[in-house]
Amino acid sequence: MDRKLVILGAQWGDEGKGKIVDLLSENHDVTVRYQGGSNAGHTVIVNGEKFILHLLPTGILHSHVVGVIAQGMVVDLEVLQEELESLKKKGIDYEGRLLISDRAHLVMPYHKVLDRLFEKKGGIGTTLRGIGPAYMFKFGRKGIRLADLEDEKRLYTLIEENVSFVRDICEKVFCESYSFNVDEVFERTLRVYENCKDMVADVSRYLLDTEKSLLFEGAQGTMLDVDMGTYPYVTSSNSSALGLSNGTGLPPKFFSDAYMVGVAKAYTTRVGGGPFPTELKGEEGERLRDLGGEYGSTTGRPRRCGWLDLVALKYAVEVNHLDGIILTKLDVLDSFEEVKVCVAYEYEGQRIEHFPASLKVLENCKPVYKSLKGWLKDTRGAKDVKELPPNALDYVRFIEEYTGVPVIMLSTGPKREEFIWLRELPKIKVSSL
Ligand code: IMP
Repeated sequence: MDRKLVILGAQWGDEGKGKIVDLLSENHDVTVRYQGGSNAGHTVIVNGEKFILHLLPTGILHSHVVGVIAQGMVVDLEVLQEELESLKKKGIDYEGRLLISDRAHLVMPYHKVLDRLFEKKGGIGTTLRGIGPAYMFKFGRKGIRLADLEDEKRLYTLIEENVSFVRDICEKVFCESYSFNVDEVFERTLRVYENCKDMVADVSRYLLDTEKSLLFEGAQGTMLDVDMGTYPYVTSSNSSALGLSNGTGLPPKFFSDAYMVGVAKAYTTRVGGGPFPTELKGEEGERLRDLGGEYGSTTGRPRRCGWLDLVALKYAVEVNHLDGIILTKLDVLDSFEEVKVCVAYEYEGQRIEHFPASLKVLENCKPVYKSLKGWLKDTRGAKDVKELPPNALDYVRFIEEYTGVPVIMLSTGPKREEFIWLRELPKIKVSSL
């Protein structure tokens, strides 16, 4: 088993990472989330019961796994409390199995108000969880870290300054009045902190010192990375492998022997605004949405759907230096007579094969498709490669050839046991489930 395994989204999020992390964390001791916050929605079905985790590392569902919320995350303590209570109700005992970095920043109630206001003026379709404003405060040196909660006097002053700053933004920029009560925010924060203070720790130190096997769980996806994604239609953290070091506080060299896996859907989706070259706006897009149940697990919004964009996927392979891809939801394509994959973009008569930074190019380019024969057979729930029709395997091989990395596993349904290993990778292979 690999001591360090990284699993991240290779598209625009919602690739099905939750199920994969759940599956592979069975053979790891620690699962670490290192960026984003409750904007994520990692769905796992265990024994017929559905769990959607927003803040907690997915591995926490296994009774032997320690979950870590590392410093790069922005933590909404109220959401954390709700999530922990819901685990308790479902009989999952997390006592002694969750660590939260003392350097992680808080999402405060006023960040959510700002998220809403910013979305009103030229928004990009955020999840409204206060993520962008929390990171703005962090990088603007106005944030509140968990470590600050131990010093109540300092905490009060920080909240007082923040509330006054937010009131100015609301009233002077947006001409809307909001009455944040400093005492109320202060007490609300301390109340929720009380329930998790025992879990707060120097997480970087813990990760550096431990001999345990580690699984790093990315949230969102490479194309939503604030630096490498379709800026400004991105989230506010480094959701590609770039976020590993600053998100955990571990030196970049720590990850040099990590096994890097990107999760990708067999087609493409994105939720919220922003360029999406292979988007299908008509009936075919709706068909993909219906067949794939493509509605946001955090916001319930319908996801935009389109053919697999290999230009974007290859870019994700390069940005993250992926060792392999796990392909999910192949079965959604089962009933298509023809399946298409985008192998290049065309812009002003030029063929583009590398994912461009320019919004203008991305918004106006046309996908160049390669058409492949559909397989017209049910692959849902398949557990053996022999159950896969030749055309489905050809589709997988085409992805491998184009991206230059192996598809190591296929996920064939939402349940834990619905998957097929395509490559012998004993180092990360899980025991039979
Ligand atoms: P934010 O992260 O809420 O600020 O939203 C920024 C962009 O990232 C929006 O387009 C969201 O729809 C998208 N986004 C954020 N989290 C996720 C996710 O977990 N899955 C898919 N898209 C996401």
